[in-house]
Amino acid sequence: MLARVIQSKTIHWLGRQLSNQDNPESWLDPVLARINPMWVQAYTPARVEQVIQETADTRTFVLRPARRWTGFRAGQHVNICTEIDGVRRNRTFSLSSSPLLWESQGLVTLTIKRLPGGLVTNWLHDQVEPGQVIGLGEAFGEFLIPEPAQPVLFITGGSGITPVVSQLETMAAQDYPAPVTLLYFVRTHRDVIAGEKLRALASRHSTLRVQVIATNESEEPRFFRGEDLDEIADLKSREVYLCGPKGLMDLAGELLHQRGVTDDRIHSTFFAPPAPAQLEGAGLGGQVTFAKSDVQVGSEGDANLLEIAEAAGLKPQYGCRMGICHQCSCRKTSGTVINRLTGQVSGAGEENVQLCISVPRGPVSVDV
Ligand code: FES
Repeated sequence: MLARVIQSKTIHWLGRQLSNQDNPESWLDPVLARINPMWVQAYTPARVEQVIQETADTRTFVLRPARRWTGFRAGQHVNICTEIDGVRRNRTFSLSSSPLLWESQGLVTLTIKRLPGGLVTNWLHDQVEPGQVIGLGEAFGEFLIPEPAQPVLFITGGSGITPVVSQLETMAAQDYPAPVTLLYFVRTHRDVIAGEKLRALASRHSTLRVQVIATNESEEPRFFRGEDLDEIADLKSREVYLCGPKGLMDLAGELLHQRGVTDDRIHSTFFAPPAPAQLEGAGLGGQVTFAKSDVQVGSEGDANLLEIAEAAGLKPQYGCRMGICHQCSCRKTSGTVINRLTGQVSGAGEENVQLCISVPRGPVSVDV
């Protein structure tokens, strides 16, 4: 009797999966995942080779992605995809290794800080061990080393150092011919990530200068100040890369502007997403039609399309949730949306939009 029930449930499940012809991965992947998780097609499987404790709350995960992964450039990010308590979760992290490690040994590293209340970061720290497989998306991002070589200043804080470690390793391997300075802010010296590697790079790469500044080591906090920049030769001719907590990035931007560094020389990455635009009074909200799902819901205020879809029980794909990775891009077939970051108003016709930063203004229809 039990065997008959199991058999009928299996046939029913297979029928449901096979009938989803639009997306072959959706029925094939669960089968492949059971046979060998490295065969899954929807993302690139990556086997965890090693877990290295960097600081009390930061670990480096050494991964071996399946060879079909297309690689990355220093400073780029990836989405990782994993299942926690039966729910698929995506999160964006920076690659902390140099592309050379991928090219020579087929390995990449992600250096990840445990965040208070962070579902995925806590899971990675508490549950992931060598031998497990996680999903990797394709690399993305424009936080890239300038070409041809130009003087560079990196200003990083906390785990914002991770893409910069990848860049510094790459520059050292290329004997990058221009001056490079790193200002790395940490709470205490115990919080320095990749300290040994940074020291080794600075001694190997003659144009690299590394300065670690601990902000909370003495009674009087030691904040980022203008003199830190005044000591840097040719500041105005440097390409400046910012990566760290928003407060540090805002302060860095202000101090740089005061010293005549123009916006076209300042590059920042997703640790400091642009502040949301002021959208009050812009007639926000409206009826949203998720056409593929045959769902219609009303929305109010500055809720974005991703939040509206999730509140309606839908599960569109997403990664960073801050307008960086384009994982949530989909077709808007009609209606007007406002970009939550820039305040820019879309046209009323058909176009691609990023669900996570698009706020409806009036009725909108999207292919979700
Ligand atoms: S989820 Fe990354 S851009 Fe929307």
